[in-house]
Amino acid sequence: MTNDRWWAPWSETEGASVLHVDLTPDPDREARAVSLLDDAEKSRRNRFLSARARREFALCRAALRISLSQRLGCAGRALSFDCLEHGKPFARVDGRRVEAAFNVSHSGRHGLIAIAEHGCLGVDVEERVAQRDLEGIGSMVYGPLERRLLGTAAGGDRVRLFYRLWSMKEALIKALGTGFSLSPSRFEIPGPMLRGARSGVFRFPHLPSQEWRLLDLGERRFAAALAYKLPCGG
Ligand SMILES: CC(C)(COP(=O)(O)OP(=O)(O)OC[C@H]1O[C@@H](n2cnc3c(N)ncnc32)[C@H](O)[C@@H]1OP(=O)(O)O)[C@@H](O)C(=O)NCCC(=O)NCCS
Repeated sequence: MTNDRWWAPWSETEGASVLHVDLTPDPDREARAVSLLDDAEKSRRNRFLSARARREFALCRAALRISLSQRLGCAGRALSFDCLEHGKPFARVDGRRVEAAFNVSHSGRHGLIAIAEHGCLGVDVEERVAQRDLEGIGSMVYGPLERRLLGTAAGGDRVRLFYRLWSMKEALIKALGTGFSLSPSRFEIPGPMLRGARSGVFRFPHLPSQEWRLLDLGERRFAAALAYKLPCGG
């Protein structure tokens, strides 16, 4: 076994650490990652139909396992994962739910894992794919101000803006944990962030008492965002 790790610290902010996971196809790494998974995770991996989905899951979950067990000071075999109502994963150590918050995202060659001591976290990474039906998808996920802004951009700027907004909205949905039960067109990114600010405060229209921090973490290789609330709860 070599010391080769496929994940590394990538961004640190107000108590939340974000790791980058290298998802480049590599059969040796993937075999090593699979060997770190428990039986439930191995059978979940085997149910994915595409090699890409199997790779993303195994490399990210193994990196999450090691990072989280180091942070919690527990053995990897003591750690298990379960899901909330809409599929958001949480961790247990020796069967007891832990306070530590985490969230995972993968897109193409890149995965991100956000971890914090407590609270609610959502992270999203999106490789920018210019060939997608941006118009059609945009009409379903963006609100009126966001669509108007997208209408003013063209070419590469439009693709960058599309994925920037997408990653921020997805990070917020993932932080909340409701998945597809909340339509992304029902809320909009705050004005200053629409105009280019890299961080801001956000409130879901149906949950006005909850204040979320939103960070645009996008860079040359991908769009990315982190949303969090410390502590969790109302
Ligand atoms: C899971 C979901 C939240 C994100 O899916 P995705 O974009 O395909 O995937 P990502 O790579 O960003 O994230 C997947 C990871 O999120 C985590 N996850 C699963 N369900 C989740 C939920 N309800 N909330 C938060 N995280 C969740 C899991 O760790 C999963 O990875 P794993 O299966 O390897 O453990 C998706 O079900 C969803 O509902 N997306 C939002 C809907 C939408 O319309 N978005 C458009 C852009 S605004």
